[in-house]
Amino acid sequence: MGKVAAGVAALAACAVAGVVVGRRVRSRRKWKRVVGVLKELEEACETPVGRLRQVVDAMAVEMHAGLASEGGSKLKMLLTFVDHLPTGSEIGTYYALDFGGTNFRVLRVQLGGRRSSILSQDVEQRPIPQHLMTSTSEDLFDFIASTLKQFVEKEENGSEPSSVRARELGLTFSFPVRQLSIHSGILIKWTKGFAIEDMVGKEVVGLLEAALVRSGLDMRAAVLVNDAVGTLALGHYDDADTVAAVIIGTGTNACYLERADAIIKCQGHLITSGCMAVNMEWGNFWSSHLPRTSYDIDLDLESPNPNDQGFEKMISGIYLGDIVRRVILRMSQESDIFGPVSSRLSIPFILQAPLLAAMHEDDSPELKEVDKILKETLEISEVSLKVRKLVVRICDVVTRRAARLAAAGIGGILKKIGRDGSGGGVAGGRSRSDPEMRRTVVAIEGGLYTSYMMFREYLHEALNEILGEDVAQHVILKVTEDGSGIGGALLAAANSSSSVDNVGKW
Ligand code: BGC
Repeated sequence: MGKVAAGVAALAACAVAGVVVGRRVRSRRKWKRVVGVLKELEEACETPVGRLRQVVDAMAVEMHAGLASEGGSKLKMLLTFVDHLPTGSEIGTYYALDFGGTNFRVLRVQLGGRRSSILSQDVEQRPIPQHLMTSTSEDLFDFIASTLKQFVEKEENGSEPSSVRARELGLTFSFPVRQLSIHSGILIKWTKGFAIEDMVGKEVVGLLEAALVRSGLDMRAAVLVNDAVGTLALGHYDDADTVAAVIIGTGTNACYLERADAIIKCQGHLITSGCMAVNMEWGNFWSSHLPRTSYDIDLDLESPNPNDQGFEKMISGIYLGDIVRRVILRMSQESDIFGPVSSRLSIPFILQAPLLAAMHEDDSPELKEVDKILKETLEISEVSLKVRKLVVRICDVVTRRAARLAAAGIGGILKKIGRDGSGGGVAGGRSRSDPEMRRTVVAIEGGLYTSYMMFREYLHEALNEILGEDVAQHVILKVTEDGSGIGGALLAAANSSSSVDNVGKW
């Protein structure tokens, strides 16, 4: 009897051991699969400096093509008709309306008549109600006009009207617009999740001014500009060595000063200063050298604008979290390391850029922030530290690629204007060792760059690799505070009907 019991116990022990070993083997296999998915991602996202230089070259080539003819490249290289930037002589009170992302802002700026002398600025920010992003142009502009009216009434309440002239406004509208003049332009297409169909092909300022009339507000739009152009204007106002501006926020874009004779498609237009700011719309840049993954392909196919904004979809804030979400979803489907597949993982854009940054920059030993975000946002709980570390690694791979590609974009602009030390470019370059290389300032704005330290560090590191230390020391990336809004007001002042004297030359 005793022998039988001992035999049964031994058998049971063997069975338990078998189960444990089996579980370990299965779990090792699952982990291997997950590591395989990670490896695949890492390889597909690789951006060695050689590849970045290919992107730099492709960007410069596409810039030439886009300047040569309309439709000559996926890079639209849009004319802005901004051929003089604020110099500091601007004086008076101007309004600005900054529309182009998740929030829109109204501003009132008082300019003092000297460089960098903004006497006061009042700003009000409002989120764009989700339903207006896909509604009608009339609904959207009525909402904007009534917010602006309330703001103006509040600001001017009780105060003497500053002058007899009509109020003037700079409209910063951060979507691809074919400008007809400095104060009018047609919306080419929507980006960043907006889809108000009746507005595509319409003149933007006309729609705003009609809404202003409906709301009873007496105000005229002196300029229509892109946020990158506004940022360039403020950058140049603060520092005359500013030659380009880059936005890396919800969306991404760049603009720079181009010589009039290099803008071949512009011939026939009068450019008084010999230069014009060109809105590159670099979000739509494409090159076979871009490191594309299956996640990018799926994200693009499922987006409202497939085959468009390919560069933006690898770089900007609205998309990065969604790439990470897709990787976690795939890992979750291929193994149970995240527990049962959470239905939250199938919700597009649930993982927004600030959450991605918070997970990536979590420096607590237990990765508490990662744990919290997985729990609260994705409803994934009880994952081991090893799995949390894996999530951080995914964030790192996706962010590093984005930042390095943005650096390559900047490298492309510098190459085009001859400030990359290669001796080429339209501005007549200088060699890498030339101590006289000019100080080159690139104004930069957007939450991904300003609030996400790791992104910023990776971008700087890549730009140094691309340019080399000798050249990189002459290139300064300078954050402009609220350039898209204040820059719009500055440009309104520089182009105001009452300020002919304010015209400054580069
Ligand atoms: C738009 C650009 C804009 C950029 C940054 C992109 O989606 O096409 O016009 O400048 O976002 O806001």
